[in-house]
Amino acid sequence: MRKAVIPAGGLGTRFLPASKVVPKELLPILDKPMIQYQVEEAAAAGIEDVIVVTSEGKEALERYFARDPALESHLSRSGAAGLLDQVRRTWSTARVSFVRQERPLGLGHAVLTARDAVGDEPFVVMLPDDVIWHSESVTRQMLGVFREYGGSVVAVEEVPTEAVSAYGVVDSVPVAEQVYRVRGLVEKPAPQEAPSNLAVVGRYVFTPDIFDCLERTPPGAKGEVQLTDGMALQLENGPMFAYRFHGARYDGGTPMGLLRAALEIGLKRGDTRDGVRQALRDLPSSP
Ligand code: UTP
Repeated sequence: MRKAVIPAGGLGTRFLPASKVVPKELLPILDKPMIQYQVEEAAAAGIEDVIVVTSEGKEALERYFARDPALESHLSRSGAAGLLDQVRRTWSTARVSFVRQERPLGLGHAVLTARDAVGDEPFVVMLPDDVIWHSESVTRQMLGVFREYGGSVVAVEEVPTEAVSAYGVVDSVPVAEQVYRVRGLVEKPAPQEAPSNLAVVGRYVFTPDIFDCLERTPPGAKGEVQLTDGMALQLENGPMFAYRFHGARYDGGTPMGLLRAALEIGLKRGDTRDGVRQALRDLPSSP
């Protein structure tokens, strides 16, 4: 597995007005943009090529992954070795390339936009606002499942029944510890109609026939080509698996989710733990 696609062409409306000029995917959890977490997760799974789907107005994403010799020589001269290392990681962790989604026609359309860049081989899709923290890269965990079972693999997480209507949900049968064979996918079901409480989260391994399926997928909700609809078509071609991953997932797609991610990851990181604890202790009690 050599390639990962990170769709980052959306409007990020839940982060307006900030996302008017700052792509949502560059909003930081503490000091690190969300998308950097994904690139590091991909690299930890042995992936060398990361294809970022961008759109007009999100050129900052390209600047973020480019070298900045002036900044590097400044940090080098001022002896800021730690910062220099962090800055170099933006361009050295993986080979990052870009494809442009002309209009935000949905996640399925964004993935399809990467077709030529991916070619005819299996690949990974990582949604930048699902940040997953674990000692073993969740993408690496998923590649293990892909190697063993073949067929596309989607990451799932158990969510409370009352929360299922915010997610795509799988109808599946268990085949091994943490692994399920998918029988169907339902987008945002009412709790009483949900086939399970296994919700799809933003990590996928796809066999390349997903592209033909996405080509055939008509626009669904909000006029967007939904990835889940393309996956439902792919399910007719062959087996698909769901993997209940190890790790803590944070939803960086909303301001409250991003705040929570910063607090929890801040408590996990050795260099920020004490400061976050202190800040939480210092909070005035709620009225
Ligand atoms: P989201 O639905 O979370 O992102 O899509 P969004 O549409 O940008 O945000 P809101 O809902 O308006 O706040 C998940 C990922 O898919 C990308 C987004 O950039 C995000 O990283 N995406 C979404 C695309 O690349 N293209 C699209 O047309 C839609």
